[in-house]
Amino acid sequence: MTTAVTNPRHGGEEEGAARSASLRGGGRAAGGRTAVVARARQVVKAYGSGETRVVALDSVDVDIARGQFTAIMGPSGSGKSTLMHCLAGLDTVTSGEIFLDDTEITRLKDKKLTQLRRDRIGFIFQAFNLLPTLNAIENITLPMDIAGRKPDAEWLRRVVDTVGLSDRLKHRPNQLSGGQQQRVAVARALAARPEIIFGDEPTGNLDSRAGAEVLGFLRTSVDELGQTIVMVTHDPVAASYADRVLYLADGRIVDEMERPTADAVLDRMKDFDARGRTS
Ligand SMILES: Nc1ncnc2c1ncn2[C@@H]1O[C@H](COP(=O)(O)OP(=O)(O)OP(=O)(O)O)[C@@H](O)[C@H]1O
Ligand SMILES: [Mg+2]
Repeated sequence: MTTAVTNPRHGGEEEGAARSASLRGGGRAAGGRTAVVARARQVVKAYGSGETRVVALDSVDVDIARGQFTAIMGPSGSGKSTLMHCLAGLDTVTSGEIFLDDTEITRLKDKKLTQLRRDRIGFIFQAFNLLPTLNAIENITLPMDIAGRKPDAEWLRRVVDTVGLSDRLKHRPNQLSGGQQQRVAVARALAARPEIIFGDEPTGNLDSRAGAEVLGFLRTSVDELGQTIVMVTHDPVAASYADRVLYLADGRIVDEMERPTADAVLDRMKDFDARGRTS
């Protein structure tokens, strides 16, 4: 793994103090919106039954703060994707509750859930999932077109600028590099101004340079556009772009780290590996 890319994110101590103060400041931020955008309470997700039963999530409690970039890490099979899918309403839970703001999504019927995902949640996947016959800007606005929503032109311009795609809007996916395609996917997720964006290893298919670009844009969208992002990753460098890292093991959140650096994340992972071998 190359870790040559350093993360220019971390601001001074003051910024961090302000951030934690705003997180401590009760449930509600200015404007009446909650400071916590997504919550899981005692979430259990089990697959199969009897001998083949697998508990992928084991009584998970988690709060995702608004305007923060959260990374989820942990060994393969620890439940990262399952947690993300449950938080995003892409998968049902066996028991427990998931909230998006004040909406308990674990109570919603299919139709309402589909609507909520479409209107309030953004996704970025490892495979870019762009439509090959549409050009970049058409791909970016497609979800809104499908939803019958008109993109806010000024916002769209800012998003396209932020991800550095202004001169590539008429290109189709096969005329773009992998990194550029993923930037289109990032812009597509940002365009509708969702309350939260989920990414499952969004840089997993990119080389370290293109990955760093995409991560930089995700970081910028949090800092400058106020976006909330939750990203599953295996990569300590990718995790170092986040404000907070949650560690999963065997379906439980076993640790977390604020203001991570790649080295600190790497050290923590070695720690877990060592403990895993001795227990
Ligand atoms: N559809 C399914 N049916 C049965 N078991 C499943 C299903 N999906 C996931 N699991 C199991 O649930 C556990 C958690 O899986 P999950 O995909 O969340 O792990 P992960 O942390 O994302 O792993 P990776 O890093 O390999 O992507 C694993 O033991 C997996 O085998
Ligand atoms: Mg996974």
